[in-house]
Amino acid sequence: METEPSPPTPHAHELRLTRRQLMVNAGVAGTGLIVGGAIGTILTRILAPGQTQTLTSYPQVQIAHLNDLHVGKPVAFDYPLKGQSCYLIRLGTPALDGVGPQGDVVAFSTTCVHMGCSLADHYRAAYNVLGPCPCHMSTYDLSMGGMPTIGNATENLPQIELLVEQHGAIFAQGVWGLLYGFEHNLTSGTPIA
Ligand code: FES
Repeated sequence: METEPSPPTPHAHELRLTRRQLMVNAGVAGTGLIVGGAIGTILTRILAPGQTQTLTSYPQVQIAHLNDLHVGKPVAFDYPLKGQSCYLIRLGTPALDGVGPQGDVVAFSTTCVHMGCSLADHYRAAYNVLGPCPCHMSTYDLSMGGMPTIGNATENLPQIELLVEQHGAIFAQGVWGLLYGFEHNLTSGTPIA
């Protein structure tokens, strides 16, 4: 008896939207983002200050505008929960999964995936890297998806999925890679405002 062939399983890289797809989708998504953002704001405001919430999906949060960014000057923000520190950086050269007109805007967790030390204030613009980590020297290439280049880390630094809306607003909307210290990225904590 003949059986129907099963559909092909998508590879992991096929599940990641390319920067081009994101930009094309941005215009369509713009209106949805505004509506979704408004709902998110309302939900955030009815939570008491400091109240925790369990994330069931990644929030879509505006973190900056393209006009605010300067090459080599990181913008700090928390994502997906308060206390989960990240940097948004315009590298000045095209990057893997970079967004913006030059594809050079990226965002990463600033918590080292080796043993959790902070990489904040350890961005070296001349080399497009975060590091060396003050604890054990791990250094991550931000133009290559956070790939470790030296040191003890064996995993990429988690990269924040970005979306640029048609007027230049930059949104965080997901995380690629497991944040240090968590079994899952979608966990409980204090929502970002
Ligand atoms: S904690 Fe960063 S290299 Fe060990």
